[in-house]
Amino acid sequence: MINQQILDQLHSDLNLGRVFYTSQISSTNQLAAEWLQADCPNLSLIVADEQTQGKGRSGRKWYTNPGSALAFTLVITNLELPIFLYNGLAAVAIAQALSHFTQDTIQIKWPNDILIVGRKVCGVLTESHWSGDHLLGIIIGIGINIFEESLKFEDNLPFPPTFLQQHTSRPLTRIAVLKQVLENLLAFHNSELTENLLNKWNQHLAYQNMQIRALRSEEESITGLLIGVSPKGQLKIQLPDSSIVEYNANEIQQIRSI
Ligand code: BTN
Repeated sequence: MINQQILDQLHSDLNLGRVFYTSQISSTNQLAAEWLQADCPNLSLIVADEQTQGKGRSGRKWYTNPGSALAFTLVITNLELPIFLYNGLAAVAIAQALSHFTQDTIQIKWPNDILIVGRKVCGVLTESHWSGDHLLGIIIGIGINIFEESLKFEDNLPFPPTFLQQHTSRPLTRIAVLKQVLENLLAFHNSELTENLLNKWNQHLAYQNMQIRALRSEEESITGLLIGVSPKGQLKIQLPDSSIVEYNANEIQQIRSI
């Protein structure tokens, strides 16, 4: 059970900015974007029990059923890292946080899906918000499937899902997972060097040195060997003619091994 009182405790333990819990919202990223426009403090946090119009990457939807999952957004206004590293920061911090709860293999499907034994347990939507050419901040929206009911409405997904409780016999609570993820995010944001973060992103990367298909749009996909994440956070793929191409996160909708 998560409520405002529990979040207030987290707020003082972790030195967060503004903290808000709601039982139902359209999308925590949507509210976070509004907060940014209204000048909210660094490290503000929005947590929802249920999302009715949660947003996924590439315009996809993300369902959050009440009582079953984590759906939250962290707002960062004091950027400590180059923008392109925030996808990696989130992915590495979450991967390491989830490893506290399960022994099963955790990987990052570029840019920032988290897989446990090859199935998606968590999706991340990072967004930068600008006022003209002034960067207001970055929001990191995180959805983690914790209990089985989090998969309730999830048919026709582009990738097979799982939930964290399936990978441990220890009973989980959503607040324990939330706290661990936030602790890791804050620690990495404050101390991690760009190079270390890139190394960790690559170490956890799914499908490295494997043939993949990368969907660029509904009509266009490319196949090649996944080489890794470039120093700018891009996906590096070697094409059949041996040339190497690099893509930003907004240029690839989905990747799969083949
Ligand atoms: C994806 O895998 O496509 C990204 C999913 C991101 C979902 C989270 S849930 C909390 C936050 N609020 C949203 O509307 N989306 C993100």
